Amino acid sequence: MQIDVDQVDEVLSTARSVRKNLDFDRPVDRQVLLDCIDVAVQAPVGLGGENWRFVVVDDPAPKQEIAVLYREILERIFKERGMDMKPTHKALTGRLHEIPAMIFVCVDGLPPDEAPAGQIGFYGSILPAAWSLMLALRARNLGTTWTSLLSARQDDVAKILGMPDGTLLTVMFPVAHLKGATLRRAKRDPAAQVTFWNRWGENSV
Ligand SMILES: Cc1cc2nc3c(=O)[nH]c(=O)nc-3n(C[C@H](O)[C@H](O)[C@H](O)COP(=O)(O)O)c2cc1C
Repeated sequence: MQIDVDQVDEVLSTARSVRKNLDFDRPVDRQVLLDCIDVAVQAPVGLGGENWRFVVVDDPAPKQEIAVLYREILERIFKERGMDMKPTHKALTGRLHEIPAMIFVCVDGLPPDEAPAGQIGFYGSILPAAWSLMLALRARNLGTTWTSLLSARQDDVAKILGMPDGTLLTVMFPVAHLKGATLRRAKRDPAAQVTFWNRWGENSV
């Protein structure tokens, strides 16, 4: 199969966080979400095996509970930083309970205590799948945001989702169809500036 590199690069480069321009009223097909998760599980995985588990929430009651938790955590973060909540965060937080679906990327297992190699192996076996999931959503014109702040309240999330002991939440993706959003490349330092050749610090091309 001939791969359209431009299209692939476009998906990879425009998987922006979308919190506002989302269609909160249009349901997202469960099969589409499963298709995206099927893409996600093609991600690289370490020796520990395929310990990823995905909890998709589209029932109003748990969505409401998660939304309350999310708001509490975010409000606390902004308060601790002495900042007002940014409009983009307000937009999502205010309607999170209405989001058509939430996908929780979880692990059936816990990170090892040792650092850092064990940690790298543990998270390296789940976060690539989360990123692939975000890209698969982007490719289908579904809007989402990489959110990890719920991990601050693991026990509460576990209770709401019925997650057993020994499991971990990493990222939660709120998912909706895009509504009036134009997703563009972000402003990032170019490769030549952040890439060293042969030795750290040598970045002249
Ligand atoms: C590790 C990590 C955790 C994040 N957690 C949250 C979060 O909890 N809530 C949120 O709204 N955005 C979260 N984000 C999204 C960032 O805020 C977002 O990437 C940033 O606003 C830049 O936007 P862009 O990704 O569209 O360039 C997170 C991103 C990363 C990489």
